[in-house]
Amino acid sequence: MEVGLLFRNDITNLEDPRIDPLGMCGTESGDIVTDLYERGYHCSFLLLQQYAQARISSFQAFLVDIRVSFLQWPLFASWPPPLFFSLFLLSLIAWGGHAQLSPTFYATTCPNLATIVRHVMSQTVNNEPRMGASILRLFFHDCFVTGCDASVLLDDVGSSLVGEKTAVANNNSARGFEVIDTIKTQVEASCNGTVSCADILALAARDAVFLLRGQSWTVPLGRRDARTANKSAAESQLPGPDFNLSTLISMFAAKGLSARDMMTVLSGSHSIGQAQCTTFRNRIYHDANIDATFAATRRANFPTTGGNSSLAPLDIQTANQFDNNYFQNLIAQRWLLHSDQELFNNGSQDALVRSYSQNNGAFCL
Ligand code: HEM
Repeated sequence: MEVGLLFRNDITNLEDPRIDPLGMCGTESGDIVTDLYERGYHCSFLLLQQYAQARISSFQAFLVDIRVSFLQWPLFASWPPPLFFSLFLLSLIAWGGHAQLSPTFYATTCPNLATIVRHVMSQTVNNEPRMGASILRLFFHDCFVTGCDASVLLDDVGSSLVGEKTAVANNNSARGFEVIDTIKTQVEASCNGTVSCADILALAARDAVFLLRGQSWTVPLGRRDARTANKSAAESQLPGPDFNLSTLISMFAAKGLSARDMMTVLSGSHSIGQAQCTTFRNRIYHDANIDATFAATRRANFPTTGGNSSLAPLDIQTANQFDNNYFQNLIAQRWLLHSDQELFNNGSQDALVRSYSQNNGAFCL
């Protein structure tokens, strides 16, 4: 059954624990803290622990703590902060939430959840490695609009629900809905009416990165699925490939994410996956800050008209491997998206890009 249909059925059931119109995310999990601690992130450990003890109900307050932790990071642990931690933080995006998430949320109610998700994702990524990238992007596009509440998965329902799937950034671009459908079907067969699609998407994105040779991380669980979607928010809040640095910084700041610690790190997710010609045509024909040979090679395959949906790998070396080539290629100006090159264009993010380019461990571990 299609995920959207499941959601629509759920709308009538207000007792369903998976449904929460606020779509909240937050955490107090000691397990997450322990996980970070074991990896050596002592400063974050302390701050997360403080957060857990105080049970801060406002997610904005939590982000203040996290920003402090990033400021202190170099004093206590490796710098810069690794991508997996940023993805972990991305998974916490929500606004004004009170929900308490935990990695063990389904330990008794759906003990096979992680195994089911990993199994389907392994098959999927084996068959088509790019799908791992598409699932990660789907997760980002879900979290960036009204929090990680699976609203991106909802289909239109007449005029009463206009979904996010047809927003500019998603239309004929967002992929992987059928993968989440498959996982959801198998999860329902194992533990009916228990697991939210938002949690399934969060787990699937984690597994996608891991299966493409990136790091793994602990996923806090217990998200509630949205009962509605917000297409206009998706139109205005999802970043576009022609955006400049200050616009991108503002868009991430609007989510409580700093440029230095979050946007540049998260954009490293472009280490995997592909882009359609429409998203980079302007750059290969008009941008000055692009390697001439690289641009000429791309122009040979992507003419000024036609072939709008033709694909090119974002990372010209290892499109199916999660690594720091993204940052190295930005420095070499061998990159497709204008928005990415903005991160290394004599601006505030140059130093961080250089740092990650020199140290894959800092980025991925
Ligand atoms: C900084 C602002 C960002 C912009 C402007 C942006 C824009 C884009 C664009 C235009 C594409 C190509 C889509 C297509 O051609 O259909 C793309 C692909 C992708 N994006 Fe982003 N993105 C941004 C941030 C992120 C973040 C934060 C993540 C993950 C956390 C992410 C993950 C991905 C992935 C994995 C792909 C490849 C998807 C696939 O192959 O199906 N992006 N992005």
